[in-house]
Amino acid sequence: MATRTIDRRIDKLIHLLVKNATVVVPGPKIAAQIGVTRSTVWMWIEKLRSLGVEIKGHPASGYQLQKLPDILVPSLIRSELGANEIGHRIVHHFRISSTNSAALRLAAGGAAHGTVVVAEEQTAGRGRLGRSWYSEKSTGIYSSVLLRPPLSPFAAPVLTLMAGVAAHLAIHSVTSLPVDIRWPNDLLINGKKVCGILTEMSAELDRIHSVVLGIGINVNHREMPAELREIATSLRIEGGKFYSRVQILVTLLKQLERHYHLLLREGSAAITERWAAASSYASGKRIRVRSNAGEFLGTSEGLDPSGALRFRRDDGRAESLVYGEIGEVKQP
Ligand code: BTN
Repeated sequence: MATRTIDRRIDKLIHLLVKNATVVVPGPKIAAQIGVTRSTVWMWIEKLRSLGVEIKGHPASGYQLQKLPDILVPSLIRSELGANEIGHRIVHHFRISSTNSAALRLAAGGAAHGTVVVAEEQTAGRGRLGRSWYSEKSTGIYSSVLLRPPLSPFAAPVLTLMAGVAAHLAIHSVTSLPVDIRWPNDLLINGKKVCGILTEMSAELDRIHSVVLGIGINVNHREMPAELREIATSLRIEGGKFYSRVQILVTLLKQLERHYHLLLREGSAAITERWAAASSYASGKRIRVRSNAGEFLGTSEGLDPSGALRFRRDDGRAESLVYGEIGEVKQP
């Protein structure tokens, strides 16, 4: 059976267990309803258990969910989104190289605006500037949102800031943790990265075909790998408790829908203003800038309407950063 078909049928299995959460569902009934053998049902139940889903029972007695699973399957997410366009179609993978690569392939094949790809685990998660993204199984959110905005390619940086604003609101409203945004769209808690966004686009000179917003959030990691510990963290490490990935993803998709329409209705200033209000890096911050033009020290001076970061170099020159990265310069 193809991996996609398996993923879809496991989603059906979860849906069936959630719908019948108060009773024990006999194995043969599940097998008949999703169209596989009883031994396949047993194998998939074991797979779900290995992902932390608590299911009581065995093939002879049947199966019963112990509590709502925190797994990012369409049947648990789509129903929360009403008539929203973003998330009307959710493609879920248990394991994939990169949700962004999958979303780009779907975009090339004509997939609709609002399609979302999510995964429990990525084997080759990609970050900005050619870096990789640590994608531990079932602890993080690895999601890619396909948009087809009626905008010119010059608007792409604002779409990226929009994703940062939406992720900021989603994380803050679910966790109440003090989240900051570092330009262009790294989300930080206590100075360490908890969420990153990779925007990839296919466009002509005057028209965007599609944009993929790849959003990775470190949610329930108990600890980060040694090489990342100084610079990255998770919501669980910072908040000292487990957070529902389903709740965070649902909130994120709702915020993306809301801010996407805000951008189309009111223009880029509505996004840059909200970004600046959420970020301590927006103005008056001592920063180190790395760009194609080199490395400079300076002070941030707000965003321009295109989303570029204005800053004043220590030698007095005013510049705008369109592509690159910044870091905080700690004052002695
Ligand atoms: C960065 O901060 O460097 C961006 C990280 C983006 C990671 C996400 S995880 C989901 C999506 N798929 C990928 O391969 N990358 C993005």
